[in-house]
Amino acid sequence: MSDRINAPFLRNAWYQAAWSDELKDGMLARTIMNEPLLFFRDAHGKIGCVEDRCCHRGAPLSHGKVVENGLQCGYHGLVFDVNGKCVEIPGQDSIPPMAKVKAHPVVERQEFVWVWMGDPALADEAKIVDWPYHDNPKKYPHRKAMMPIKVNYMMMVDNLMDLTHLGYVHTKTIGGNPKIHVEAKMQAERTETGARLIRWLLDVAPPPTYVRAVGFTGKIDRWMDFEYVIPGSVKQWTGALNVGMGAVENREQEGFHLHLFHGITPETETTTHYFWSAANGYRQDDPQATDALYNEIHPTFLEDVVIMEAQQQRLSADPERPLVPIKADYALTHARRAFQKALDEERARMPTAAE
Ligand code: FES
Ligand SMILES: [Fe+2]
Repeated sequence: MSDRINAPFLRNAWYQAAWSDELKDGMLARTIMNEPLLFFRDAHGKIGCVEDRCCHRGAPLSHGKVVENGLQCGYHGLVFDVNGKCVEIPGQDSIPPMAKVKAHPVVERQEFVWVWMGDPALADEAKIVDWPYHDNPKKYPHRKAMMPIKVNYMMMVDNLMDLTHLGYVHTKTIGGNPKIHVEAKMQAERTETGARLIRWLLDVAPPPTYVRAVGFTGKIDRWMDFEYVIPGSVKQWTGALNVGMGAVENREQEGFHLHLFHGITPETETTTHYFWSAANGYRQDDPQATDALYNEIHPTFLEDVVIMEAQQQRLSADPERPLVPIKADYALTHARRAFQKALDEERARMPTAAE
């Protein structure tokens, strides 16, 4: 299928593979970039990521279980450590060097499980996105989710870097009047690691979500600050203050604001694992405030899923037909160009690794 419609996989990068608590039962089977993987936590608490296919007779390792020495295949009992090395073969003393399964570098940090799908020698942990809002749940109580979406992963990036859809897709939640979104002050730029978009909606009526969950009654100054980090992370800072409180000069002041993380990880060319976390920086002592926001954000993102999955079907049916860009696309264009540059560099380095 055309590269233009379905972005190829960028391999040498960290992707969010899971939330830590998805591994609370010890194992999690998840396909990433068409590769069936098994994430597991060994008896010492260390996380491993191995291909979900035993080297002995090809059974899925997800049919096995975690034992004292590692992960035990459920067919004939071979045991593998977090590096994919076989450490035990029932009824056999020596372990041949070939007895191993492919493993990927994996890091657990700040409630995320990150995986590196490319050359393990290039996996630099310093490049993992920092998300300090998970470090301090008292200051930033948060709720998290994972939504499977039937779209190419870069379509989700497009959706987050394109905010004029708010007034059309999200009329009942965070959108409100379409006109105020089209007239927003928008600034977008490339960054060293991707692209950034800031939008200000000044002196506007609060959208339905802000009325229901936050209790705004009068007009507000509202911002949306999105930073795309290649290839699949978007950091969002969003909030609003009553008009006259000086939001433009100082967004740091106490008031309604959220730090949202979006983790976008390709499952296949046309399906995506969409992770998100909403850290609430407002009325932190009231658990209901965070729940109320979650209960608004979740249906908002489901509104995106409906339109995007329908869009993907149309695009897949006729992938060569050109699309017509408009002025409001410029932030997503910055993001796409930054992504394409990284992809071109990867392909130049390792032409055989390209999809
Ligand atoms: S298939 Fe895994 S031990 Fe035989
Ligand atoms: Fe949306």
